[in-house]
Amino acid sequence: MGKPKVVLGVSGGIAAYKACELLRRLTESGHDVRVVPTAASLNFVGEATWAALSGNPASTEVWESVHEVPHVRIGQSADLVVVAPATADMLAKAAHGLADDLLTNTLLTARCPVVFAPAMHTEMWEHPATRENVATLRRRGAVVIEPAVGRLTGKDTGKGRLPDPEEIFEVCARVLARGVAEPDLAGRHVVISAGGTREPLDPVRFLGNRSSGKQGYALARTAVARGARVTLVSANTALADPAGVDLVRVGTALQLREAVLKAAADADAVVMAAAVADFRPAEYAGGKIKKKDGQEPAPVTLVRNPDILAEISADRAREGQIVVGFAAETDDVLANGRTKLLRKGCDLLVVNEVGETKTFGSEENEAVILSSDGSELAVPYGPKETLADVIWDQVAPRIGVRRA
Ligand code: CTP
Repeated sequence: MGKPKVVLGVSGGIAAYKACELLRRLTESGHDVRVVPTAASLNFVGEATWAALSGNPASTEVWESVHEVPHVRIGQSADLVVVAPATADMLAKAAHGLADDLLTNTLLTARCPVVFAPAMHTEMWEHPATRENVATLRRRGAVVIEPAVGRLTGKDTGKGRLPDPEEIFEVCARVLARGVAEPDLAGRHVVISAGGTREPLDPVRFLGNRSSGKQGYALARTAVARGARVTLVSANTALADPAGVDLVRVGTALQLREAVLKAAADADAVVMAAAVADFRPAEYAGGKIKKKDGQEPAPVTLVRNPDILAEISADRAREGQIVVGFAAETDDVLANGRTKLLRKGCDLLVVNEVGETKTFGSEENEAVILSSDGSELAVPYGPKETLADVIWDQVAPRIGVRRA
């Protein structure tokens, strides 16, 4: 089998320079990349850069090498087309099927998955014209990644930044791995909590746990590649922001509860992958707790935190909303999992065994997915992304199905 063929479309925005890094990641990981820049984008990055980095010619017009019929052949033979950055103009052209240069022709002839990574000013992104164009493209099966929030060209900040090229690459890799499968979470809003909460004792100390957030982030990345709108509620992780998610950072269990409940109001699925502290110190010392010579340390009194999973399971914000929990167990893993599924009232419970060297912080995981309908699915040891995809395979068909 030859290398997967990727078309990297580049339209005319300042973020075009970040596409060089995306191109590098794609070629270094064994993809045959053909860059198709628009004429406007060459104001930002020149043709020579694309040709040298990709090892392929980089033409903008259909009139070059006409005997090879590039306007048809490039799209037809692609395994993936990714447009990064995609300007408001490019989204409009793609949504309306215009074909006035090589990239727009390629978009019309491609039958493979298409990923758009938009980048523009917030006003342009929020304009009803752009909103409608994005909705059209998504309805047709394209994956349109939500832009990141942050510094834009000039002094402005807001939504519209091109996500980190490494993270756009992750989306491309996942979409490629899915092949021609439709993005089955398109039009769905999913909420994922990730990481571990920290319950402060004083300004410098907290009660925490060993969760890295990797499983929750893998769920977020795979959901984006399957077309979902993703809200990622992240507690104390040290991981790169996945492309295309609305990221809400929280610290404590109470903050996580507030953020999850707010996002869950219109969610089709909620996945509680975060390790939430069951208890928090009853008192928060405003100043650092000091040790005193000759005195025993004062005991720390704990109070219960609300059980967020049980709460959202019992009181669904939307009919047909699917709620997924995780169970981290050290002993009697399956028996405890089955009891926990009933106690929490969720639809699916992903049970995994944890220990000091198991699961926490690792790239891999194994689990059994228990369902409220009694089915049990063992997922063998493998990358957290694989488990994440199996979880979405279970969630996607259940969304919107009325429970008995
Ligand atoms: N969870 C939650 N709110 C809490 C504690 C846990 O929403 N206050 C969620 C976690 O996000 C996870 C699931 O409940 O999806 C199970 O967490 P786990 O720590 O395994 O269970 P606990 O409820 O803490 O039960 P136990 O301490 O008895 O193991």
